[in-house]
Amino acid sequence: MEADIKIDYLGHSLYYRVAGKGRPVLLVHGFGETGDVWKNQMTLLDQTGAVKSEHLLPKDSFRFIVPDLPGSGQSAMTADMSMEGMADALKFIIDKEIAGQQSTPEEVILVGHSMGGYTALAFAEKYGSYLSAFGLFHSTAYADSEEKKAARRKGIEFIREHGAFDFLKNTSPNLFSPLTHETSPGMINSFIQSLEDFTPEALIAYYEAMMSRRDRTAVLKKMKIPVLFVLGELDNIIPLKDGLEQTHLPDISSIHILAHSGHMGMLEEKEKSGKILADFLQSL
Ligand code: MLT
Repeated sequence: MEADIKIDYLGHSLYYRVAGKGRPVLLVHGFGETGDVWKNQMTLLDQTGAVKSEHLLPKDSFRFIVPDLPGSGQSAMTADMSMEGMADALKFIIDKEIAGQQSTPEEVILVGHSMGGYTALAFAEKYGSYLSAFGLFHSTAYADSEEKKAARRKGIEFIREHGAFDFLKNTSPNLFSPLTHETSPGMINSFIQSLEDFTPEALIAYYEAMMSRRDRTAVLKKMKIPVLFVLGELDNIIPLKDGLEQTHLPDISSIHILAHSGHMGMLEEKEKSGKILADFLQSL
C-alpha cells in the first residue's frame, strides 16, 4: 500500500511516497516535476505488494521511496538548493527509511530522472557506500555546456518576468516526442496542468544549481555497481548521442533506448519503462 510521509528536515518540510517492503529503491524526479512522474512505475507493486503481472516484482522484495525534491510538489525549498544540498536531503530521507525498515544503507538503489539524475550523481559522489545499484533516466554526468548555460540565463530572465507557470507551459511541450504529441495530447496537457504550483524561486534555484553543477563522469567511472541507463531516441534535452557517450564509463552498464520517447519515457512509454526498471531490479 502506498503511503504519504512528511518529515521535518532542518526546519523545512519534506514529502515522499513509499510503497512495498524490502530493499530501498529511491526514484528521484527532474526539473519542473514532482515524484508523481514515477506513479506508473510505482505500480510495479500492487496495493498489497504482490506480483501483478509477468514483469512485476515479488512481494516484499523492494520498497519504493519517491520524494518530491525540495521546492517541488509538497516539499519546501531548503537553505541549500545545490545538487549537493538536495543530495543531503535525499540522504536524510534514506536514513529515516532505513532506520524504520531495519535495512542497511549499502542496499540502496538510486535512480534519477534528468535533474534527479544530477542530484543522484552528487549523492553517489558523497555517499557512494550507500549504493548497491544506480540508474539514470534521460540524464547525464556531463556538466552544462556554455551554450546550455546561456539558455538557462535567458530562462531565468523569462521566469522573473513572466512567472513559473508561463515558463513551464512554454517549455514542457518540448519534453515530449512528436509521436506522444500526436497520440497522447491529453497526457501532455494534464502533465502541464499539474505544474501550476511551482514558484519562480524554486525554478531559478534549480537552474542555478544545474548551471553550477560539476562534471561527474569520474563518479560514473568509479562505479563498480550495476548502472542502468534509459535514454529517449527523440530526447531534445539529453540528445541520444550525448546520453550514450557516458554509458561505457561504469564497470557494468545496462543500456535501454526508448524508440518513441522524448525526455519523459516514464510517461511516454510507461509500461516499457516499468518493465526495464523491474528487470533491472530483479537482476540485482
Ligand atoms: C530536467 O528534466 O530535469 C531538466 O530538463 C534537465 C536539464 O535541463 O538539464
